[in-house]
Amino acid sequence: MGKIILKSGADLEAMRSACAVAGKVLDDIIAFIKPGVTTNQVDGFAAERIKFYGGKSAFLGYRKYPCHTCISVNEEVVHGLANERELRFGDIVSVDVGVRYNGFIGDNARTVAVGGCGVLAQRLLDVTEQSLHLGIAAAVSGNRVTDISRAIQDYVEGNGFSVVREFVGHGVGRTMHEEPQIPNFVDRKMDHKLRPGMTIAIEPMVNAGSPDVKILKDGWTVVTRDGSLSAHFEHTVLVTGGEPEILTWLTPSKLKVA
Ligand code: MF3
Ligand code: CO
Repeated sequence: MGKIILKSGADLEAMRSACAVAGKVLDDIIAFIKPGVTTNQVDGFAAERIKFYGGKSAFLGYRKYPCHTCISVNEEVVHGLANERELRFGDIVSVDVGVRYNGFIGDNARTVAVGGCGVLAQRLLDVTEQSLHLGIAAAVSGNRVTDISRAIQDYVEGNGFSVVREFVGHGVGRTMHEEPQIPNFVDRKMDHKLRPGMTIAIEPMVNAGSPDVKILKDGWTVVTRDGSLSAHFEHTVLVTGGEPEILTWLTPSKLKVA
């Protein structure tokens, strides 16, 4: 277990720029998604955009991960591998992008409907995104990791959905996974106090059915055991003395890139 690395000064500025690039790349990818494109085309487009902004995929080669992004469709939860599958109207697709830039990593993910989707799927997207924002709102100095976890879990379960246990959010900085872990369920074993300068990736993974997941034979793709739909939203967030700062949330003033 490493220790928690607080960011400040030039390191924090570099971290901000890496997160701005990661956010911009994710925006570009989301705009590219439409019925008929294959997930390989989405990953290839992501590779181009990452390069365009001068970054590198933080995922490619990580523990031999073979793609630039994670693209997870419908019952796929996270870590979906790009392939020849064509996205169809009504699918929901999660895109997870980590970019290394200026020596730091920004990590973010979003799930969108391809064209449009059914009522249950849309509610799953809305509840998952809202749970992320409730988790972020709890990421204030003096609170604990479990305050983030509880905000997410209570909202998700209160809406009749479930949170995945096997995968969790994490500190992020010069490396993709730093301390502390940020579970989307209350786990007192992993608790830590939140302090200004912590940069954390908060990433609820929410299933429409049971929380249980399994990994496919490709060694990466995580799917729901019951085949129910799953959604995933992620932001990299800076804990401050006041309001949390969403580093991968693009406001024009932050956009120093293209
Ligand atoms: N956002 C994910 C994470 O934090 C993505 C990692 S994909 C991997 O773990 F391929 F790089 F493992
Ligand atoms: Co992450």
